[in-house]
Amino acid sequence: MLKIDKISKFFFDGGNSIFFNSKKVEAVKNVSIEINTGDTLGIIGESGSGKSTLAKIIAGIHNPTKGDIIFKGKSLLNLSQRQRNNLIQYVFQDPSNSLNPRKTMMQSLLVPTTYLLGLTKDKAYARIKDILKSVSLPLETLNKYPHELSGGQAQRIAIARSLLSKSPLIVLDEPVSALDVIIQEQILLLLKNLKKEFNLSYIFISHDLAVVENFCNKIAVMFHGEFVEIGNTKKIINEPAHEYTKLLINSVP
Ligand SMILES: Nc1ncnc2c1ncn2[C@@H]1O[C@H](COP(=O)(O)OP(=O)(O)OP(=O)(O)O)[C@@H](O)[C@H]1O
Ligand SMILES: [Mg+2]
Repeated sequence: MLKIDKISKFFFDGGNSIFFNSKKVEAVKNVSIEINTGDTLGIIGESGSGKSTLAKIIAGIHNPTKGDIIFKGKSLLNLSQRQRNNLIQYVFQDPSNSLNPRKTMMQSLLVPTTYLLGLTKDKAYARIKDILKSVSLPLETLNKYPHELSGGQAQRIAIARSLLSKSPLIVLDEPVSALDVIIQEQILLLLKNLKKEFNLSYIFISHDLAVVENFCNKIAVMFHGEFVEIGNTKKIINEPAHEYTKLLINSVP
């Protein structure tokens, strides 16, 4: 379904100053992986290892410095943002940051529905109502502003928004890290059910090995911008090859 082909991303810090040499940050280095339809690929690694940078490249938020992303045989890099959004959606770690504080949920959901799907307002509203049901939120949520929602409700809205376009692949960047444990469980269960209901594939980013073990069929371990190990979940957990993976497994309480 999706082939990530030798992707690298370099940032240049302080590059605007004539007094300082810009420092090159190699956030992602020569990363390759394939995602098949129905996969839930977990990407795990410590803070700063390049997970979000890679996720944003996959979702089209950043451009890679090198490499290509092939979706069903075609490069994504030549497509418009709108075409890419219809194929791959991105859910941010912190739902309160990803929702516009001055917009009601209705306004936040209507724009992507009319823009991405080209639906009339009436049809868009019907679609939003359906999706709201799928994420188990009551209709009155649509009149609320982000500050009137709990973290779990806000993340349900962010997930709902990612479903509106009917994209077959969703990149979930630490979708439960900002939530407390009980709400985490509920959102993970919701994601599992939605995957079945809509035939989705996921890329699931996390630094929590226990969550990834339970949720993902494949794991890629990221360390200093590189994939140091890729394999199916059982194999990675039972026979870790890389020192960093062993460290991760041993640090699970
Ligand atoms: N826009 C940017 N400009 C410059 N450097 C950046 C930018 N975004 C990320 N970086 C750097 O790239 C590296 C990887 O960051 P990234 O956010 O991808 O890590 P991460 O694995 O998602 O970490 P976390 O678990 O904390 O979310 C870090 O060194 C970070 O400082
Ligand atoms: Mg991150």
